[in-house]
Amino acid sequence: MGAERRVGIGIIGCGNISSQYLKAMRDFPVLEIIAVADMKPEVAERKAAEFGLAAVTVDALLADPRVEIVVNLTIPRAHVEVGLRVVAAGKHVYGEKPLGISFAEGRRLLDTARAKGLRVGSAPDTFLGGGHQQARILIDSGAIGDIVGGTAFFACPGHERWHPDPAFYYDIGGGPVLDMGPYYITDLVNLLGPVDSVMAMSATPQAERPIHSEPRKGQMMPVKVSTHVAGLLKFRSGPIIQVTLSFDVPGHAHLPFELYGSRLSLLVPDPNMFGGEVKTRSATEREWTVSPCDQPYADANYRSLGVADMALAIRDGRPHRASGDLALHVLEVMEAFETASREQRQVTISTPVERPEPLASSIRDGRLA
Ligand SMILES: NC(=O)c1ccc[n+]([C@@H]2O[C@H](COP(=O)([O-])OP(=O)(O)OC[C@H]3O[C@@H](n4cnc5c(N)ncnc54)[C@H](O)[C@@H]3O)[C@@H](O)[C@H]2O)c1
Repeated sequence: MGAERRVGIGIIGCGNISSQYLKAMRDFPVLEIIAVADMKPEVAERKAAEFGLAAVTVDALLADPRVEIVVNLTIPRAHVEVGLRVVAAGKHVYGEKPLGISFAEGRRLLDTARAKGLRVGSAPDTFLGGGHQQARILIDSGAIGDIVGGTAFFACPGHERWHPDPAFYYDIGGGPVLDMGPYYITDLVNLLGPVDSVMAMSATPQAERPIHSEPRKGQMMPVKVSTHVAGLLKFRSGPIIQVTLSFDVPGHAHLPFELYGSRLSLLVPDPNMFGGEVKTRSATEREWTVSPCDQPYADANYRSLGVADMALAIRDGRPHRASGDLALHVLEVMEAFETASREQRQVTISTPVERPEPLASSIRDGRLA
């Protein structure tokens, strides 16, 4: 196979997040966008016109032999249904997070793809960003020591303040765990390895919530999921991490990520971003020290870095990093928050997963290659 071969990409789902993908894909020459599609044709046509692309029907996109990877940017409830159609069409699929809205359906997608020799990839890919790779380098170098514990904290007043169509965040498949949990838990697995077990408590303080954003301002949305979740993750490598994920917090002063090692404490940047400062502090220091970052993909929103890595991996016959196996492990952990809370017990995680290879091994001249 020629080292320069580009990989044909089709996009299904042309909503809010698709613009970020279409902009970021310009940074990755391996990706050749063939066409975009949406179940609402006018939405696909608008997006195609904005980016100078072709809009087609979902069926036409799936039938196009030039499309090798379909990037599935539909809503969580549709991820597996669309993913299974992609795989049935004989194409690899890379989807937005979460992999699915239940562990069982996520596993069905992976099993079906594997039986056909096709790949599944999944967002988030922010853990491949320079800030998180820098934190990984520090941990792997032994500088932090053995990690004992830490905190992962996401809390906001809810996406109904900005998203134009926020109802899916409160429907089955929504909630702060499935929505924001993937960023935090995926990065934790990148840094610490697989999760062993989960304990949690959860709450749904409001049975319905008003939309604050246009165009549906004032309408009420039913809330069918837990919106405030506090949990504990025990990692197979030893650390115990406290996790808070909430849509019920007016404001707070917590950092997204703190890890406590036997040598140093480590502040990891926001896992919803690619960059951000990595800081350390020893027991004797009074101030935090910024760890200089020389890793690429730390200076912008590179959503689609994981797609580019998967395209190169297909071309070069190596594993891709933002993998379906990683996303399934994370989905099992997220489902375990709800099970642990409902059944008041510690839930053991069954799926095996390897830490993804550091991005540095695929960087040539400062870029992914
Ligand atoms: N909005 C964000 O800032 C953001 C950020 C990161 C990740 N995400 C994730 O991206 C995904 C999409 O979010 P969004 O905010 O763009 O949602 P959205 O509602 O704005 O867009 C989803 C699009 O998918 C289309 N669609 C839904 N079901 C379909 C189907 N079965 N077949 C074809 N098209 C279908 C809809 O018509 C819509 O245009 C979600 O999984 C979300 O978690 C969103």
